[in-house]
Amino acid sequence: MDISQKKQRLEYQEEDIRKRVAELGKQITKDYEGKNLMVIPLLKGGFIFAADLIRTIPLKLAVEFITTSSYGNSFESSRNVQVLKGLDRDISDFDVLIVDDIVDSGTTLKAITQYIKDKNPRSVKTCTMLDKPSRRVVEITPDYCGYEVEDVFIVGYGLNYGDHYRNIPYIFSVETE
Ligand code: IMP
Ligand code: MG
Repeated sequence: MDISQKKQRLEYQEEDIRKRVAELGKQITKDYEGKNLMVIPLLKGGFIFAADLIRTIPLKLAVEFITTSSYGNSFESSRNVQVLKGLDRDISDFDVLIVDDIVDSGTTLKAITQYIKDKNPRSVKTCTMLDKPSRRVVEITPDYCGYEVEDVFIVGYGLNYGDHYRNIPYIFSVETE
């Protein structure tokens, strides 16, 4: 999919993102002091944000990844969340923080939160870089969130358009029709 023909708009530049991520990291550091933090980024979308975020958290922390089913090339979120690669270790001693790029319908975050809860960790919280509350289908609010966005298709900073653009260091929106 070629993005150059589409109308694009810059939403958040690198410097804004860096500052906001540092604020989130500071809050998380405060909240998890004395706990046993395990950060679980959701692949693929959550990896860039999670990589930046954990480097602003000067605590001892563990990292494990979960791969969830993705959008493919469509702009509609799948209502049927699949765990393509799950956890293969015991997490009952950990305070888990699930990290993803964006909450849209909320289906993914809700399903993964339940998947983690079923493994009986000490606690579970969620952190997303972006939140599109106007698109919510199931009830869920991330415990930590970078920015709320309108109902637009977002690309960059881990978010894909087709197979590409996750590596763009800033966040922009594209016209999808
Ligand atoms: P949900 O299950 O509908 O909340 O969708 C969550 C997943 O859909 C996110 O983890 C993203 O990977 C993807 N997604 C949702 N909105 C966007 C977007 O605007 N751009 C790119 N990916 C998105
Ligand atoms: Mg994703």
